[in-house]
Amino acid sequence: MLILNKTAGVFFKPSKRKVYEFLRSFNFHPGTLFLHKIVLGIETSCDDTAAAVVDETGNVLGEAIHSQTEVHLKTGGIVPAVAQQLHRDNIQRIVQEALSASRISPSDLSAIATTIKPGLALSLGVGLSFSLQLVGQLKKPFIPIHHMEAHALTIRLTNKVEFPFLVLLISGGHCLLALVQGVSDFLLLGKSLDIAPGDMLDKVARRLSLIKHPECSTMSGGKAIEHLAKQGNRFHFDIKPPLHRAKNCDFSFTGLQQVTNKRIMKKEKEEGIEEGQVLSSAADIAATVQHTMACHIVKRTHRAILFCKQRDLLPQNNAVLVASGGVASNFYVRRALEILTNATQCTLLCPPPRLCTDNGIMIAWNGIERLRAGLGILHDIEGIRYEPKCPLGVDISKEVGEAAIKVPQLKMEI
Ligand code: KG4
Ligand code: ZN
Repeated sequence: MLILNKTAGVFFKPSKRKVYEFLRSFNFHPGTLFLHKIVLGIETSCDDTAAAVVDETGNVLGEAIHSQTEVHLKTGGIVPAVAQQLHRDNIQRIVQEALSASRISPSDLSAIATTIKPGLALSLGVGLSFSLQLVGQLKKPFIPIHHMEAHALTIRLTNKVEFPFLVLLISGGHCLLALVQGVSDFLLLGKSLDIAPGDMLDKVARRLSLIKHPECSTMSGGKAIEHLAKQGNRFHFDIKPPLHRAKNCDFSFTGLQQVTNKRIMKKEKEEGIEEGQVLSSAADIAATVQHTMACHIVKRTHRAILFCKQRDLLPQNNAVLVASGGVASNFYVRRALEILTNATQCTLLCPPPRLCTDNGIMIAWNGIERLRAGLGILHDIEGIRYEPKCPLGVDISKEVGEAAIKVPQLKMEI
């Protein structure tokens, strides 16, 4: 764990005058009376600088986001110091844009909610440092947010979903299955033993040099794979899904990435091209890797559903499965999950794609959830630190593995 003062505080400390100027730049509406709670959410845990203002009823009053995807695509991955600098360059503008769009005065905010865990240390530090300055100036309560909890609860902003429900969070940095029993009550059923699926897709996309593909040059790796896969044949190769024998809900994606790399090298030889050029069979490779990933995700989620039903942790009928995170914006993965939920009498709910990837709305909404539940609202910000690593909820994945539930085969005709 890194301490804020030792890192971000040294590099990023907006002066008091700057904060006052920032606050003065808003049009104050002294006569306006807001009956609802309103939260400003700030997100900088990875490579998006995002902010949003959301009210108690789930209305998004204002939103702004600066994505670093294009910059990191050029460097072939996220360089933490570059991400940190970009957050510093943009955070003030982004928060200002979200607040201006909301047309509220900062004094009307009920609280400021900010992601403080888990994530890249240098990135988290910028958001936390900025937020604490603002909290101090505005004299508002501060709500520290767990990034994965925020992803998990986003669905309650868009749909009427009661606890408990199962959540599958699949993104570039995370891969986990959890039972959500309350606003801050999570049981962790399984997680990736190595890399996350989005990271795997990003690495495959880089190895395929999809940045040079005219249709994909500005897309994230995962999006590029989804786009190309539509033109490809998934039966072109046959890759075995990972962890075939392990009867738990854990995931693994490194093996899939390595097998795919070998196929790419073989194809490069066959096509007589060098690494760095786009293969003519890139679409087939994209389709195969996407399909194998989807089948693996479905199998582990299937076991989680069966485990929760066996233990009466979820209702036997109409249990809800929520899929969120960047990879859950993939429509092939969503269709695969739909096959699963139809077969298990569950309902699949996914936030719209723009709320699946990192955004400020989910952080502000988590702030609203916490305000309503009276959980984790801080009036004293002394000693607040960010936590780059932080598990989600109570880990019962060992118990899930010990149950060794056999999962029936599903026909994956997507
Ligand atoms: O949730 P997110 O914005 O950030 C975190 O990792 O927390 O997810 C980003 C990840 C990236 O790895 C990106 O390649 C992947 O989500 N992604 C996708 C799609 N769009 C973004 N993966 C598959 N299909 C997509 N359409
Ligand atoms: Zn995320």
